[in-house]
Amino acid sequence: MSAGDAAGFDSSLWPLAQLRVRAGAIELRPPTDDDLPALAALVPVEAGHDPTLPISGVTTPHEVTAQAVLRQVWRSRAELAPDRWRICLAAYVDGVLVGQQDLKADDFPRRRIVETSSWLGTEHRRRGHGKAMRALALHLAFEGLGAVAVESESAEGNDAALGITRSLGYSPSGDTYEVHDGVVTHMLWSRLTRERWALHRQGYGLGPVECEGVEGCRQLLGLPPTELAPTSNGNRAANGVAHRGAPTGQPAPA
Ligand SMILES: CC(C)(COP(=O)(O)OP(=O)(O)OC[C@H]1O[C@@H](n2cnc3c(N)ncnc32)[C@H](O)[C@@H]1OP(=O)(O)O)[C@@H](O)C(=O)NCCC(=O)NCCS
Repeated sequence: MSAGDAAGFDSSLWPLAQLRVRAGAIELRPPTDDDLPALAALVPVEAGHDPTLPISGVTTPHEVTAQAVLRQVWRSRAELAPDRWRICLAAYVDGVLVGQQDLKADDFPRRRIVETSSWLGTEHRRRGHGKAMRALALHLAFEGLGAVAVESESAEGNDAALGITRSLGYSPSGDTYEVHDGVVTHMLWSRLTRERWALHRQGYGLGPVECEGVEGCRQLLGLPPTELAPTSNGNRAANGVAHRGAPTGQPAPA
C-alpha cells in the first residue's frame, strides 16, 4: 500500500487526488471537498453549465451556476470510467484560486481525443491565466495521457475563449447550433492536433511543466503504463520535461 495523499486518500484507491500539473506560479489540481466552497463562490454566471445536471432548491443565476459547479465535480468523480470521463481541475496562481480547467473524453483509450472547458473568476481575467491554464491542460492531455487531438467549443462572439484557441495554435474544425431554453447559439469548434501542439508549445511561454501523479491516473482511465525512453545517463525521461512523483512521458501508441 502506498502512503495516503494530502486529500487523505490512499494513492492506489483514488490516484486522481494526487494529480498536479504546474509551471511557474500556476498549478492545476483536482479540488478537494474543502476547496469547493471557494470554487462555488468564484464561478461567474457566464461559465454556464451542463444542462443535464439536475439543479434544485436555488433561484438566483449565481446560485444555479454555483450549485452546478458542485454537482459537476461530484458527478465527475462518481462517473469517471475509461469509456467516459471528466477531470475537473481547480486552477491556482501563487496559491490563489483563480478558476477551473476541465478535460473530458469519450472512449479515450480508443479515440484519444480530449475536450476542454474552463472559466476564470471575473477579477482574474486578461492576465494570461486562461491561456496558461489551457496550456497546462494540453500538456496533461498530450504528454501525460497520449491524446492525438484536443478540441474546444466556444460560442460565436466569445472573443476571450476564441482568443485562447487562436493564441495556442488551434485550427477551426467546424460549427454546431445548440438550443438551450429556446435560445439558439452558434458554437464554433477548434482543434489542436498533437503535431501542431509540438510545433507551437515552445511559444506558449510556460517554461518547464511539472506533472505529478499521472501514471496512477493512466491506470484509472484504462490506459497502459507509460513507456519511457532511456536517456544517455541511464535515467528515464520524457521530452526534456520535468516530471515528479509517478513518471509520465511519451504516449503509448493509440
Ligand atoms: C475565456 C476565459 C477563460 C479567458 O481567460 P483570460 O485569462 O481572460 O484570457 P487570457 O488573458 O489568457 O487571453 C488569451 C488570449 O485571448 C485574448 N483575449 C482575452 N480576452 C479577450 C477578449 N475579451 N476579447 C478579445 N481577446 C481576448 C488575449 O489577448 C490573449 O491573446 P494573446 O495570447 O494573443 O495575447 C475567461 O474570459 C472566462 O472565464 N470567461 C467566462 C467563461 C468562458 O467563456 N469560458 C470559455 C468556455 S470553454
